[in-house]
Formats: sequence, structure tokens, C-alpha cells
Amino acid sequence: MNALDRALTHPLTRNVTPERRPFDLAAYEAGGGYGGLHTAIGKLTPAECLQIVKDSNLRGRGGAGFPTGLKWSFVPMEDGGPGHKYLICNADEMEPGTFKDRLLLECDPHQLIEGMILAAYTIGADVAYVFIRAEYLLAERLLREAIRDCYGKGYLGRNILGSGYNLDMHVHSSAGRYICGEETALISSLEGKRANPRAKPPFPQVSGLWGRPTIVNNVETLCNVPHIIERGAQWFNDLGLTEDAGTKMYGVSGRVKNPGCWELPIGTPIREILEGCAGGMEDGYAFRGLLPGGGSTDFLVAEHLDLAMDYGTIGKAGSRMGTGTMIVLDDRTCPVAFVQNLVAFFARESCGFCTPCREGLPWSAQLLAELEAGRGQAGDLDTLAMHVDFIGTPGNTHCALAPGAMEPLASGLKYFREDFQRHIDGRACPYCEREAAA
Ligand code: NAI
Repeated sequence: MNALDRALTHPLTRNVTPERRPFDLAAYEAGGGYGGLHTAIGKLTPAECLQIVKDSNLRGRGGAGFPTGLKWSFVPMEDGGPGHKYLICNADEMEPGTFKDRLLLECDPHQLIEGMILAAYTIGADVAYVFIRAEYLLAERLLREAIRDCYGKGYLGRNILGSGYNLDMHVHSSAGRYICGEETALISSLEGKRANPRAKPPFPQVSGLWGRPTIVNNVETLCNVPHIIERGAQWFNDLGLTEDAGTKMYGVSGRVKNPGCWELPIGTPIREILEGCAGGMEDGYAFRGLLPGGGSTDFLVAEHLDLAMDYGTIGKAGSRMGTGTMIVLDDRTCPVAFVQNLVAFFARESCGFCTPCREGLPWSAQLLAELEAGRGQAGDLDTLAMHVDFIGTPGNTHCALAPGAMEPLASGLKYFREDFQRHIDGRACPYCEREAAA
């Protein structure tokens, strides 16, 4: 595939080389980078840019899939009041099993910056932040360098490309909590407060950072924007295989031959990603299930493998596409231990604000640990199901963290119930016993 074909079909990863050499400003521009900026700034009005993004049907790639153009349209445009409007890039990638944004940040930081400038221009923001995961040290360094180079080139700062538009961009390193990825917790953290989520509404689009209109978008979402502005909404719609538009960064981890991350048309069947890209299961391991979009999604099993990986299809199958990065469960890994590990993670990451999350998640994690250790009792599975019902019902908790934590547990009880029961009946973990006997 030549460079032009690749740019048209794999826009996000067109600059990702096998050795993952980061593209600096000169290399990015040599490949047509900042073409979207030259197309739009001072030439298209913000309203025209908004319409293109709306028509593109781009949906948020952070996990929830909210329509990006619609989200931007909630920002009051004729707000003449004092103060800034803000764009925040959520680069606090901490969903278990998720590593797609890291690839984009480390290989092509200018793609993100260009997307952010275009998004900020569209919503009328004059200040932008990249809120980046604390451990993403290389990405942070590359971003800071890239932002510095953009100021030098007149892509950031005052009077960008002579258009009269001003934008400042800052990088903020997270203090390292999963909940900071929730947009209102992120905003609290950026304001220097404890990272507790805030009640919505009001949504950040009208009252966000320092009470001002704010858009929070994921890295992958923003990286799509330059290509949409430059090539148009129809081109983007045509990339998708199903009713969703564009490409998607998919990933696979677990006992597969070739774990990794690939950009594919959105709607690519799960089997194609699992077998075609990830090479299928490692020798000696069989497939049992997968979490399609990170740790806070419901299991899918063999009967779902031919489904399209898009928001609607995976939703109808009883799960969520989430971040699109799958975690595979094999036949030699204990599903109880697998779920316990995830619930314990979410329990540790709870901000502690609401009781069901602060108390319910550790309770569930502890009960699962007892089960896994062979100390489960009759009735434990009903107790877990009761927790799932209560904690997992949106509205019973302050934010989506605890309901998300319950998704692998709820679906684990549905698809792997006999494994849970065997821990109680045999008073031991059958997987540990098998391992010990081998
Ligand atoms: P959400 O559905 O509440 O919101 C998604 C976005 O749409 C937000 O920006 C929100 O402001 C906007 N929105 C939703 N309803 C709206 C309305 N009625 N009016 C205006 N705007 C509206 O989802 P949330 O809690 O922001 O994100 C949950 C997702 O994040 C989960 O799917 C989870 O998989 C994913 N996630 C991803 C992580 C990562 O590392 N990428 C980490 C943690 C969670």
C-alpha cells in the first residue's frame, strides 16, 4: 500500500512506522500534516467546521461513543461574557487493557495538536489542555516539544495563520487516579481540587473548567478531526463498514499470538481482529470470552465472534464497544480470579464519594477473593447478583465507575457461572488445582 492509499484508509496511523519513530513537525508536514489547519483556520467559519464534524458522524472514542459534533454544538457560541472557553484532551488513558491513545501520542503528537487546534477553533476556545496519564512520560515529553515547535511556527499563540484567532495550549500531567479520566473529575483535578466527579447536568459544555464552557474529548476522537476537515464528512462516513463512521483503533491483549493495536474500519468483525490481526489464541490455549472495550465492559463469548465491532452491534449483544481494546479470557485462566482482579482495581480507584461505590466495590472484591480462595459459601452467588443489581444500576451511584466495575462481574456470572459454583462446591479454585497438578 503506498503512502497516499494508507493516508486515505488508515488516517490515524499513517505515520506509525514499524519502529514507532515519532514524527516531528517537519516530518508531519512533509506528509501533508497541518493541511486541515490551512483548510480551516481563517477560511471556514467555526459554524462550517461544526457542520462538517456533525455530518461526519464521528462518535467519541473514549468509550461512551457520544456524537462529537452534537457535543460541540452545546457550547454557547455567542457567549459574550467574561472569561475563557476551554478544550481539554483527555489523555488519561487508564481503562484496563487499553493502550490505543498511547500509540497515537507517542508516534504522531502533531496529529493530536492539529485536531485540538481545529476543535478549539470550532467551539471558540482560547485555552486548551492535554490532561495526560502520569506514566506516559515519553508521550508527555514529545507533546511538550511538539507544542513548543507549533508556537514557533505560528500554529499556536496569537493570530494563528494571520486569522486573528488565538489559542494557548498546555500539558497537565495527571496525579495518577483512574477516576481522573471521568470528565468532571478531570476538571476538578485540573482546578487543583480533589478528583471527585460532579453531578451532571450541568454538563461541562456549558459549565466546565472554572465554571466556563468546556469540551472534553478523547485523544483518538481529536486525532480524527484534521482528516475530517480536510477530506470531508462523506469520505469519513464511507470508511465505516456498518452504520458507524470512520476507522477505529482496536486492540487485543491476553493469550493471543500477536497482542497489539491496529487501525481498522469501524465495524470490522471481532473474529477478523482476533484471528487476522492478533493471530488467534496461543498454542495450548482455547478462547473462552473477551471484554470488548476494556475492563468495564460485559463479556462476549464464542457466539458473538462474528459480530461487527461497532457501538450499536456490541450494545445489542449486551455489552459495549467501550474503548475497542479487547481483553481475552482463555481456558487456563480462572474467570473468578480474572473478575476479582478487575473489581479490586475499581474498588481501589473509587473516589469514595458515594456509598455504593466506596463500600460496595470492596465488599464485592472481598467476596470474590474468598470465593477464589475456596472459602465461598452457598448463597454467595446470590449476594454477588444482588450487588450487581444495586451497584450496577446507573443512577444508584454518583458516576459510571461502579456500574462499569459491575459489568464483567454481571456477565461473568452469566457466562461462567459453573466456574463460580465449582469454587464453592470444591472448596478450592479448580484452575489453581489443575496448575498445581500439571
Ligand atoms: P457519558 O455517556 O456520561 O458521557 C460521554 C460524553 O457525552 C461526555 O462528554 C458527556 O458530557 C457527554 N454527554 C452525555 N450525555 C449528554 C447529554 N445529555 N448532554 C450533553 N452531553 C452529554 O460517559 P462517561 O461517564 O463520560 O464515560 C464512560 C465511558 O468511558 C465508558 O464507556 C468507559 O468505557 C470509558 N472509560 C474510558 C477510559 C479510558 O481510559 N479511555 C477510562 C475510563 C472509562
